[in-house]
Amino acid sequence: MSAAKSRILVIDDERSQRDILELILTAEGYEVTTANNGRHATSVLAESPAFDVALTDLKMPDINGIMLLTEMLKAQPGLCVILMTAHGSIDTAVEAMKKGAFDYLTKPLEREELLLTLTRALERQALLRENRMLQEQLRDRFRIENIIGTHGAMQDVFRVVHKVAASNSTVLIHGESGTGKELVARALHQLSERRNRPLYAVNVAALPESILETELFGHEKGAFTGADARKIGLIEQASGSTLFLDEVGDLKRDLQVKLLRVLQEREVLRVGGTERIKVDARVLAATNQDLERGVREGRFREDLYYRLNVISIVIPSLRERRTDIPPLVEHFLKKYDPSARKSISQPALKILTNYDWPGNVRQLESVIERAVLLAEEDILGPADLPATVRTGISSASDVVLGLHIPEEGIDLEGLERSLILKALEKAEGNQTKAARLLGLTRRTLQYRLEKIQGAPDGATAAPKGAEAD
Ligand SMILES: Nc1ncnc2c1ncn2[C@@H]1O[C@H](COP(=O)(O)OP(=O)(O)OP(=O)(O)O)[C@@H](O)[C@H]1O
Ligand SMILES: [Mg+2]
Repeated sequence: MSAAKSRILVIDDERSQRDILELILTAEGYEVTTANNGRHATSVLAESPAFDVALTDLKMPDINGIMLLTEMLKAQPGLCVILMTAHGSIDTAVEAMKKGAFDYLTKPLEREELLLTLTRALERQALLRENRMLQEQLRDRFRIENIIGTHGAMQDVFRVVHKVAASNSTVLIHGESGTGKELVARALHQLSERRNRPLYAVNVAALPESILETELFGHEKGAFTGADARKIGLIEQASGSTLFLDEVGDLKRDLQVKLLRVLQEREVLRVGGTERIKVDARVLAATNQDLERGVREGRFREDLYYRLNVISIVIPSLRERRTDIPPLVEHFLKKYDPSARKSISQPALKILTNYDWPGNVRQLESVIERAVLLAEEDILGPADLPATVRTGISSASDVVLGLHIPEEGIDLEGLERSLILKALEKAEGNQTKAARLLGLTRRTLQYRLEKIQGAPDGATAAPKGAEAD
């Protein structure tokens, strides 16, 4: 028998019958409640927590047995109902079985038969319960609160998240900007035992190196001018919790070495300090860069890469999972229009589904937020979408030019010069044609050509003082 007592409701209009059943069943360790008629029984069921089994007389003055059965099952759908019937009313009992009763017993009851039937009923209850639990677990494995993703690739992400959340392994989350890396990091924390402490997040790219160092590692009093008190760094603060290093690919070499030490030795040395302090922070990291390439090109330490990438979660770009776009649109509509009046028209949804989303889910979210704010009608149409999305221009030019901005940046003026020369070449020197190819007037093209020809080679990339602010 399980730890919690099974709860049994006994319904009979005959007092002596109720008393003897209560006596027998209580002695067997069951928790027994009694009711003396049908109305009483339904009100008990409506107000109490779930019973496992109802043991009911079939013939009572106030209600027909079949009706009582139907009402009881309506009040507690998981209930197992056993009928007690006099010899003459077997037909009704059979009919009741068809309507969902578990079994019937004929009066006068035999103790052994009663207990055996009860045991079988409870076994079935346990089985049903276990089945329900397994189904819920299965469903949850493919679900994470607030993260939308029905596409197979996202379902894979959810499965891994559920699998590794409870462990202390370092996880590296890869994905383009706006794909939901931070959301996944937060889910990993929420699904871990560390959830009662806050997640400590730091964006590596947002802080200058010296500030980042003291933010992460802390410093002792007097470590440098201005350090007039000891500072506890985030790594130490996150001990017992989770530390999320966002854009970890931007970490400078010096700090890469220091972070590696934290991951390897599980201890931290404050800036200006000598004492090694034990830390127990679970580290999650995210990057939108190709870190393996960073390793090949010497920008990222290989040993640190392997330390971070123990578990790797790759979040696909939105254009690689377009089937997620409609449910995401619904999700953001609900988020930004709590009155739930706005909906999306089919043509607008089609545009959204076909667009390339260089900014991924974040971009989709702001497009919906804007549309909800600006739309005049309750049904959002193509006109409520930004021109770039409607025309797909940004993605088209990416495709035509194969645009990709490398880590070291680009020389925009040099690029402009190459484009102008290319257009002239294609137009066989005809300036009017070349201007048309570039979407410029002939005069503008001529003006830019003069600028190019006036500038000595290489001077185009020279920094200008005016841009230094
Ligand atoms: N699958 C998703 N379901 C619901 N909302 C999402 C999903 N993915 C992203 N978002 C939302 O999109 C926005 C961007 O997500 P997040 O900040 O996690 O992206 P990111 O990958 O960390 O981006 P970046 O690289 O630019 O930092 C957030 O508002 C987030 O709530
Ligand atoms: Mg982020």
